[in-house]
Amino acid sequence: MTHSIAIVGNGRLGTTLAGALRTAGHDVSGPLGRGADGFAADLVLLCVPDAEIEAAAACIVPGAIVGHCSGATPLDVLGDRERLALHPLMTVPRTGASLRGAGCAIAGSTPQALARAHAIATDLGMRPFAMTDADRPAYHAAASIASNFLVTLEAFAERLASSAGVPRDALAPLVRATVDNWAAEGPARALTGPIARGDSATVARQRHAVAAATPDLLHLVDALAQATADLASGRVPSDGRGMRTIRTIADLRAALAAERRAGRSVALVPTMGALHDGHLSLVRAARAQADLVVVSLFVNPAQFNDVADLDAYPHDEARDSVVAAAAGADVLFAPRASEIYPPGGTTQIVVRGPLTETLEGAHRGRTHFDGVTTVVAKLLNIVQPDIAVFGRKDAQQALVIGRLVADLDIPVRIAVEPTVRDDDGLALSSRNARLDAGARARARALPQVLHAAARALAEGTPAREVEADGLRALRDQGLDPEYFAVVDPVTLAPTEDGNALVLAAAVVGGVRLIDNVSALHPAPVVTDRTAQPITTGGRA
Ligand code: PAF
Repeated sequence: MTHSIAIVGNGRLGTTLAGALRTAGHDVSGPLGRGADGFAADLVLLCVPDAEIEAAAACIVPGAIVGHCSGATPLDVLGDRERLALHPLMTVPRTGASLRGAGCAIAGSTPQALARAHAIATDLGMRPFAMTDADRPAYHAAASIASNFLVTLEAFAERLASSAGVPRDALAPLVRATVDNWAAEGPARALTGPIARGDSATVARQRHAVAAATPDLLHLVDALAQATADLASGRVPSDGRGMRTIRTIADLRAALAAERRAGRSVALVPTMGALHDGHLSLVRAARAQADLVVVSLFVNPAQFNDVADLDAYPHDEARDSVVAAAAGADVLFAPRASEIYPPGGTTQIVVRGPLTETLEGAHRGRTHFDGVTTVVAKLLNIVQPDIAVFGRKDAQQALVIGRLVADLDIPVRIAVEPTVRDDDGLALSSRNARLDAGARARARALPQVLHAAARALAEGTPAREVEADGLRALRDQGLDPEYFAVVDPVTLAPTEDGNALVLAAAVVGGVRLIDNVSALHPAPVVTDRTAQPITTGGRA
């Protein structure tokens, strides 16, 4: 028998391999048609479809080594004879492909067979690596993701681009450069774009565009956005999962117990969803202060005094989950109402006194804060965070929660983060989405009048005069104010002191908005912002 190779199977791979082997100086017969017996060759390489390998191997004359060129097929299907496998990790188009530089998965039933596969791969300029039958499914899945799925993804990008009038050709150079960057630099450095920059406002706008143009792609885009956020933040845990959505208290406790055992500190950002940049700034603040960030998403029925308001509250968990992950959340705790309020519960947490009975308490009804304090106490018990982060836009709520935590000796540090505003000064709020264009324009007056009040107080105008001017100015600008109050920033009692908090609530276009500014000092004193940052496992 001569030292020669027969190729069986005259499709793209058989033709390419036969040509490349000949060029490399091998004695090659073929590519032969299926069913050939490989007579006179000492190695027969089967380049036939996977399902036909076993039958094709059975036709080969005894004595020759038999090899297959499949990525997915175990070596053993070649039967009880000397055998090898050689899978060029390359896509072979109709026009043929150069195998030079490609990886090549090799296997052999004997050291000689393995050495033969290695020699062929290196003769063709490929980079061989050994592949066991046990590792083959994962190897082949990786190859499919890297090639087939990439094509699927580009086809999706093509559809979306064409909905914006962008031709396919315009995407191709971007795809090539991205793949080259990934190959040269690795995923962390190749990743660019809004998710890697933590620009959740752009991520949300993109998602909106996908939902409008190609809604069938939304689930895929959400999953990829989440995976990209995890990759960008380096947060993919060792178990391979990114941000987790957890729905039950038991599952959350189990997940957090494992984190605590690993010595990680936990931050909680309680939300009712409809996340906007204000919420995301809380998530980012939490991310900066603790090892693990839990965002709770629960529209708490107990704090709504008005059923219509509850019904109108926006719900979009898929979107919230994407933007929370992009902002750095590790866990989204999204329980059902029955998980938080199982039948039979009769306990409420009530903070009494002016903190809950004035302003929001007076206008929304006192049950509003009872609902807030009950759910926040429950969330703090469930999560047992080292730090819980709230927004200063709800300044009264933050004070009430500070009182709750102090009175019940709950071992958590409450952090209150600055209000995030739109370019025109309007505080971000989930309710802003319900303002029509006219109401949105009028709503701008709320922060303007509050800031004017703070200036007037700083100039020495008496507080009651400032309040009356504020109410009048809001009415003049087409808002329907519920209160405009200059109060002590800790007790919420009316004050004439210049160090005051100015709060207002007003209805505009049927939407109730609240806002506040500090006069003289930049923040209501709710928490000790100079406290030591949370350290691993630390409890304040
Ligand atoms: O501020 C809110 O969104 C809610 O009042 C809170 C704190 C999540 C409790 O439901």
